[in-house]
Amino acid sequence: MIKKGIILSGGMGTRMSPLTKAVNKQLLPIYDKPLIFYPLSILMLSNIKDILIIVNKGQLNQYKKILPNGKNFGIKITYLEQSSPRGLPDAFIIGEKFINGENVALILGDNFFYGQNLTSQLQKNTKLNKGAKIILHRVRKPENYGVAKLNNKKKVIAIKEKPKKFVSDLAVTGLYFFDKNVVNYAKKLKPSKRGELEIVDLINLYKKKGHLSADLIGRGGAWLDTGSIEDFYKTSAFVSAIENRQGFKIACLEEIALNSKWIKKNNILDAIKFYGNCEYSNYLKKLL
Ligand code: G1P
Repeated sequence: MIKKGIILSGGMGTRMSPLTKAVNKQLLPIYDKPLIFYPLSILMLSNIKDILIIVNKGQLNQYKKILPNGKNFGIKITYLEQSSPRGLPDAFIIGEKFINGENVALILGDNFFYGQNLTSQLQKNTKLNKGAKIILHRVRKPENYGVAKLNNKKKVIAIKEKPKKFVSDLAVTGLYFFDKNVVNYAKKLKPSKRGELEIVDLINLYKKKGHLSADLIGRGGAWLDTGSIEDFYKTSAFVSAIENRQGFKIACLEEIALNSKWIKKNNILDAIKFYGNCEYSNYLKKLL
């Protein structure tokens, strides 16, 4: 079982400067919520209630203003700071005490997922006991991502970071499920040519042992990028289109917590007070 999750929410957001000069990228809006709400919702929908958020040094207060400690969602949020970006596997080294020898999920703070059967798929993946599981999604420009090649039995036969030559069009999304060996494996890694520990190298250690599996988000699901300003606006437009058409909100954290019975209706009243007179609060009122 996986009961713990990490959101890696650092990064300088250089490609989005000047927007990211004063505010961390994951706190910028995707339509009507800060970006961080979306990956947090994914962990909550996976039934993960013990969450570590890793942020850049000096940016903790920005986060605590909007996500203090998780009590308001019936979950536990812990923060740790990262002094400089050393690559994704660094999350497991920084988070060693939090992980405490247990299995753990990792989601990148800028990844957006949406889809009909996503919740059941996520909850199936948190049943993992041994090995690692990666989540793949077909994309038009695989060269921008880690990619995985599968054989006809859906076994991963190759995994590469941003390959210049075509390997596969299945991108490795920023959502990973690992067993308790992840900390030791992360510590074994050496920085790549770009000077960072690479998640693909970590996954390859599991692959070598025959302990890697993959799950696919099919064409009915969406995995969107928020890497550049253009992608940010496209993801916002996607959320706006769905929310305004259906009247439901994507990644309303209080709604997920209420549906999971982690909080009560009076917590929703507190949330309304906290957010003040706004459209998000109006939505929360409807939940009552
Ligand atoms: C990172 C990973 C890559 C993965 C991507 C998903 O890339 O290195 O394997 O496909 O996240 O968002 P980066 O965003 O650091 O370029």
